[in-house]
Amino acid sequence: MKYTITLIPGDGIGPEVSDAARRCVDAAAKRHGFEVKWEIALAGETAEKKFGSVLPKSTLESIKKNKVALKGPLTTPISEGFRSVNVELRQRLDLFANLRPAKHFEGIKSRYGKVDLVVVRENTEDLYAGIEFDEGTRSAGQLIRFVKSKLGKKIRRDSAITLKPISKTASERIVKFAFDYAKDEKRKKVTAVHKANIMKFTDGLFLKCAQRVAKKYPKMQFEDMIVDNMCMHLVTKPEDYDVLVCPNLYGDIISDLCAGLAGGLGIAPSANIGKDCAVFEPVHGSAPKHAGKDEANPTACILSAVLMLSHIGEKKAAKDLEDAVLGVIKENKFVTYDIATGKPVGTKRMTSEIISKIGK
Ligand code: NAI
Repeated sequence: MKYTITLIPGDGIGPEVSDAARRCVDAAAKRHGFEVKWEIALAGETAEKKFGSVLPKSTLESIKKNKVALKGPLTTPISEGFRSVNVELRQRLDLFANLRPAKHFEGIKSRYGKVDLVVVRENTEDLYAGIEFDEGTRSAGQLIRFVKSKLGKKIRRDSAITLKPISKTASERIVKFAFDYAKDEKRKKVTAVHKANIMKFTDGLFLKCAQRVAKKYPKMQFEDMIVDNMCMHLVTKPEDYDVLVCPNLYGDIISDLCAGLAGGLGIAPSANIGKDCAVFEPVHGSAPKHAGKDEANPTACILSAVLMLSHIGEKKAAKDLEDAVLGVIKENKFVTYDIATGKPVGTKRMTSEIISKIGK
């Protein structure tokens, strides 16, 4: 069997961690008798320098053709320059579900030992939809006047505004995805996270959709929780929670919180899944200060590749690779600075150690 998979190396530490994941996948594939042909495609800063576009058409075409991609993190400048390429990619390919497991592994120093959570984040709308009105623009002024005339509500004239669309379609789809995932993975409970007490229409709709979908899964426990309360409960009793389904922004924040509970961004993988394509990537960003120094933790990207192998049906290879990663972390002898209890090793050395343990 031969798979063709798009590989987007990414910016900052991206090329180093994605190369580590690629080496691991190749080693697991060899052991399990299949082959992966990597189709390199660029995005982000790297693509802008080479092609003058942060998301070249050829990159989108490659993912659409191959249906699966492994992606390193991409740099997005804060407040100026291009809007996030990650967000653009998710929207263009309708990768509506962002799956972010946060599990504590033996060998990782953490305040919590029993974290095993999965955040399912809606990926296409909410405040991430990219509908913004800049301060002082004509359209911002028109919107401010419209709100005043229709709702009698005052928005300060010197405001910038972001819209928060939440649809029934996207909400039902993401909650259904969360329940199906929970059922398939033999999880026990789904918690819908919202702020429906304040945003009665948008978050209210998300909650209603969640309650409606939950009725179709009578064997799965279901509850809902207001996002601020959720944060407090996650920090005090993470073991009480299982699968959390969230609108886009809360999902983004809560998944970093969960990554922190489990042991840090260096070990947190994710999958962006749509009807036709899937893109696998670490939760962390391009960490520019660590770039090119052979010191970034490759675990998050390698575990994203584990999710990818499982997605394409290579479950045994996925399990072997995951076990190899967990083995190296448990020993804590050849691990990077962020999780090392003794002398750390570099990205390449940790990767070689993982490869040597595949299938052992
Ligand atoms: P970041 O995740 O890049 O870094 C935060 C801190 O986490 C770093 O200082 C570093 O100490 C640590 N860290 C992250 N990954 C690590 C790894 N593999 N090994 C060891 N330590 C690691 O977040 P930051 O600094 O907020 O963002 C940097 C850039 O990345 C920004 O341009 C941001 O937009 C982008 N970004 C991209 C994402 C993506 O492509 N999916 C996701 C998040 C941020």
